[in-house]
Formats: sequence, C-alpha cells, structure tokens
Amino acid sequence: MSLSLDTPLTRHARIDVPLICGAMYPCSNPELVAAVSAAGGIGIVQPISLTFVHGHDYREGLRLIRRLTDRPIGMNALIEASSRTYRERMERWVDGALEEGVRFFITSLGNPRWVADRAHAVGGVVYHDVTERKWALKGLEGGVDGLIAVNSRAGGHAGPKSAETLMDELGDLGVPLVCAGGIGNARGFVEALRLGYAGAQLGTRFIATEECRASSAYKKAILRASEDDIVLSERLTGVPVALIRTPSIERLGLRAGPMARWMLRHRRTKHLMRTIYALRSAWQLKRASFDESDSSDYWQAGCSVRDIHEVLPAGQIVRAFAAAATTN
Ligand SMILES: Cc1cc2nc3c(=O)[nH]c(=O)nc-3n(C[C@H](O)[C@H](O)[C@H](O)COP(=O)(O)O)c2cc1C
Repeated sequence: MSLSLDTPLTRHARIDVPLICGAMYPCSNPELVAAVSAAGGIGIVQPISLTFVHGHDYREGLRLIRRLTDRPIGMNALIEASSRTYRERMERWVDGALEEGVRFFITSLGNPRWVADRAHAVGGVVYHDVTERKWALKGLEGGVDGLIAVNSRAGGHAGPKSAETLMDELGDLGVPLVCAGGIGNARGFVEALRLGYAGAQLGTRFIATEECRASSAYKKAILRASEDDIVLSERLTGVPVALIRTPSIERLGLRAGPMARWMLRHRRTKHLMRTIYALRSAWQLKRASFDESDSSDYWQAGCSVRDIHEVLPAGQIVRAFAAAATTN
C-alpha cells in the first residue's frame, strides 16, 4: 500500500517530502541544508556550525542558503538555560532567522516558550526534540506544535527508547511526531511512516553526501561502520553522544571521570562542567570532522550506519525516499 507524502509535518513546514535533515554540529553546512530543501525536504541550520565551524557571518550564511534555494529551511535553537550571554545570542539568532523568512524551528532542551511565541506571531511553527514523555509534556506546555521523537538509535545525543516505544508513549498527545534515529535507507523511512510518524529526521545519512563538507575520512568511516561500531560516550560532551568506535575513542574511554561526574551531578557546578565540556568538544569535533588525515578520529554517527553504503547527492536521497513511500 502506498503512503501519502502529505502529512501534518509537510503542511506545517510547507514542504513536499516529510523528511528533515536534522541540525548537526559540526556537519551542517549551507550547501547541505540547501540541497535537502531544494529537493523537497527541509534542511535545518545549526547556528554554531554555520558561524564557528563554517565561518559565515550568521545573516550572510542564511542569505547564501537563500540564494541556493528559495524552498523553506529551518533553524535549530538549542535553548538550554546556561548563561545569559548564550541566551542573548540565541535570541538574536532566532530573531535573525525570522527576519530572513525562516518559519520552521526545532528547539532542543530548555523551555521553548519564547521561541514558540515569536514564531507563532508571524505564522511559524516549532517542533521540540524529546526523548521521553516527561519532556514532551514540558515542550507542549511551552506551546510547541510538534515533537521530534529522538530514539535510542539516533546520532548525536540519543534517547533511551525505541521508535516503537516512543510512538506508544507520545501517540496520544495530539501533535505530529517525527521519528529521529536509525534511519539510513528508504525502507527505514517507509517503516517510520507506517508506524504513524508524520515524518523523519535524519542526521548520519546526510553526512555521507556530496554536499556535506565533512572529510572523506569521516564519510568513509560511516560507510565502513556496522551498528556494533557505534558507542555512546560521555567523555566528549558530558552527556552520552553516539560515536564511531575508533582508536581515539578507545583511548578516551566511554565514561566521564569521577571529578567530572561529581560536578555534573551538582546543581551549582553542573553548568560550569557542561560549559567546559562544550568548549572542549566543540574544538575537538570541529577539527576531527574536517581533518583529511584521519589522525583525530572523533566521529559522531548513529546506528543508521548499518544501512549507509555510498556517498550520494543529498537530493537523490530525498527523491528516493519519496519514491519508495509513494510506490510501496
Ligand atoms: C554529527 C551529528 C551532529 C548532531 N548535532 C546536533 C545538533 O547540533 N543539534 C541537534 O538538535 N541535533 C543534533 N544531532 C541530531 C540530528 O539532528 C538527528 O536528530 C539525528 O542525527 C537523527 O539520527 P540519525 O543520525 O540516526 O539519523 C546531531 C547528529 C549527528 C549525527
């Protein structure tokens, strides 16, 4: 039975294919975001990746994407309450995106209320990343329009639950759910739609594309890796992040050290420790993702590596997924 590509997500985001190229630090570059949107899905801008990693002035970077495609793009607002400076910067980024015509936002962590209020005022929508019901309810209290259900097979910060369990847990909340995690091919996309998801958010699959600026060593590692090679380590960012097991990761170990663990547990020191981790990992990931020598092999990827076997143009992936859903 063929599936309709017309879902609450495509209506909300004003796109043709219910497929999101999720925000990726440091892998979201303007060309990748634009290619996914141009093909009918939606690419999400990661502001720190756009500016710090890829060296664009924020507004100029958004306009570059706009020159590559006039189709909708989205923006990721990581709204964890860390420091006032960070919050002010994120507010400027969200306002800048709204002024440049962005109408689709994905919030992570924190209370999304202020983003929802600003987006709704101009007809935009906000989806919130969640890993369990508790966070979904908080997001809905904050006025979001949909939820990105991040499952245990996801790249980045994976959740504890499977795609099926998340559908059972969140299915009654009355908002569109997007499946994030573990989808590497068209079959996985079709399965997510069949489970009742309004669409899918992919990260790892879009790193192995021609438009992604990640090094070819990183892309090759994704093609080579099997699901067993994916490990969760808290040594890099302070919270478990999915990485390809490589010599550097083996050396680093998977658990935070005792001092860091203590600091992460206590309210007063938690944010300081997170900041230290964030700054250090930002450098490490930036350097590793673009280093062609593969000497610094800190490579983030999720379990979808299992189904990723070649580097493809991003648009081809979007079109193949759409075709598989409608001809199934
Ligand atoms: C390298 C990498 C970096 C990521 N960075 C972010 C990020 O900065 N913000 C965010 O909300 N999600 C981030 N994610 C999560 C993705 O947006 C997406 O939800 C996830 O990759 C889906 O799982 P998949 O990799 O199995 O497709 C990242 C994922 C990867 C693989």
